[in-house]
Amino acid sequence: MSEPVLSVGVLISGSGSNLQALIDRIADGSVPARIALVISNRADAFGLQRARLAGIPTRVIDHREFPDRVSFDRTMIAALQESGVELVCLAGFMRVLTADFIRAFEGRLLNIHPALLPAFPGLHVQQRAIDAGARFSGATVHFVTEEVDAGPIVIQAVVPILDHDDAQTLAARILKQEHRIYPLAVLWFAQGRLQIVRQRVQIRETIEAPDAYLLNPSAPDTY
Ligand code: GAR
Repeated sequence: MSEPVLSVGVLISGSGSNLQALIDRIADGSVPARIALVISNRADAFGLQRARLAGIPTRVIDHREFPDRVSFDRTMIAALQESGVELVCLAGFMRVLTADFIRAFEGRLLNIHPALLPAFPGLHVQQRAIDAGARFSGATVHFVTEEVDAGPIVIQAVVPILDHDDAQTLAARILKQEHRIYPLAVLWFAQGRLQIVRQRVQIRETIEAPDAYLLNPSAPDTY
């Protein structure tokens, strides 16, 4: 018998490359899910074209047409509930969500952020990581709580920050890893392997590597 298929809603504001990564991993059978609805707060988001090309229903819900965040979020909640989504993925969705929204999908709301949280929440995070002189940055998939860019972490990918990096080159390096880890987090959710215990995510049947480490710059074994 095949695994039951998880119904997912995806919220975007822009390019939608993370949405595409999820579409691709679903299409090749890696992730047992279907995307029931893509919502964008911007009519010109390229991600809408990606969704339409994949035959996924889309809605544009423009935040500027609502008097406040609460009414905007209520409209999104209703649309997602009507579509029967069991998991909501924020994928480059650049609006702060209300407590109403977060409570409506508590424990089934994921976000991806292009930094190693809890370092560098917020905006312009690649430039801020470079300016801080950090040797590594990366991407974080986490459950969403009421604090912005915070919440129990599912998976992180680490990438080096190189001497010649600017915000664009670093963002591209991070994005490549985002496309690997977000579908994986959705797979684990679909398999029911994620459990939040005291603000930490426990993932059943994963392999830990206690001796794993990264150095940047790399160093010889003896020196
Ligand atoms: C991604 O880098 C994502 O991590 C980031 O926006 C980009 C969206 O790219 N999200 C945030 O900064 C949220 N705080 P995409 O539209 O190509 O998936």
